[in-house]
Amino acid sequence: NWQMGDFVQLEIARIRDLVGDRALVLGACSGGVDSTVGAALMREAIGDRFKAIFIDNGCMRLNERDEVKEKLAQHLGINLTVVDAGELFLSRLEGVTDPEKKRKIIGSTFIDLFEKEAIRIEKEAENTPNSGKVEWFLQGTLYPDVIESLSFRGPSATIKTHHNVGGLPETRLTGLLLQLIEPLRLLFKDEVRAIGRQLGIHESLVNRHPFPGPGIAIRILGDVTKERVEIARKADHIFISKIKEAGLYDQISQAYAGLDTNRSVGVFGDQRVWGYIIILRAVRTKDFMSAEVFNFDHSFLADVSRTICNQVEGVARVVYDLTSKPPGTIELE
Ligand code: XMP
Repeated sequence: NWQMGDFVQLEIARIRDLVGDRALVLGACSGGVDSTVGAALMREAIGDRFKAIFIDNGCMRLNERDEVKEKLAQHLGINLTVVDAGELFLSRLEGVTDPEKKRKIIGSTFIDLFEKEAIRIEKEAENTPNSGKVEWFLQGTLYPDVIESLSFRGPSATIKTHHNVGGLPETRLTGLLLQLIEPLRLLFKDEVRAIGRQLGIHESLVNRHPFPGPGIAIRILGDVTKERVEIARKADHIFISKIKEAGLYDQISQAYAGLDTNRSVGVFGDQRVWGYIIILRAVRTKDFMSAEVFNFDHSFLADVSRTICNQVEGVARVVYDLTSKPPGTIELE
């Protein structure tokens, strides 16, 4: 008889047992429900020996990193270390248009930065009561990712992992071999949400739509430049704010505004402009393996389109993606 309350207690005990009383654990905290619930369990289990890191890859949503930092501090007492690496990511992404190349570059840059953080954290912990080696890396892997055994494309994961049959998975941060700790590996998303609620995590974190590790980079077709990220980010913020205002957020599984490679002609006042094209996408899904398009009222979409064209400079056209999955993926790339 499966009891969520038992899960939390058993998992905390398992984490303590695995990690012991010296080792440090590094964890990527994105603000998503999986990493937040994982972080809450770690914090409960080993306190300050859990080190939460947020890497800003320059492709996050508007105000995301400040909001995540604030919420984790406020609701979980977690002191999130923010690594501001936007310039580095964008410089490595310059001229890269191939979707899988984008993912590889972003993934390996995350790894480089986590390794740097691990070294910094060990140094910082020296000569304190919490001195120890970083031996573990928290991963918000869910059961569906475990089945696929390839969590790189799972909703929560940023780093490719390999699940050895019978053994604990490991991850190599360039020169550093860390063991993976995966407290959610037996759970489905709705169970993670239930546990999040049980742990007292705020509804705004528990109910968040998933956001991919590479962020806006895989919602921008073609070049990822600072200017193009800015445009997609502003449009996305308008779309999501309107969705929330209309009370539709919880009926939608995932929604965003992306950017097309092409431009199109528009008229502003008496001028013809060569403007950007925003692609809106909103889907409903249970498992993210297949998805259906969300049915908005036309008037809602028309209002979003008008607001984006008025408020986001350079945008001349807004389209709504009507493709279900399959054949379309949820992300644009
Ligand atoms: P697709 O686009 O494949 O997305 O239909 C299914 C789910 O996976 C997420 N996704 C990713 N998450 N890194 C991630 O962390 C990725 O590279 C990635 N690609 C897709 C997507 O947001 C959706 O929830």
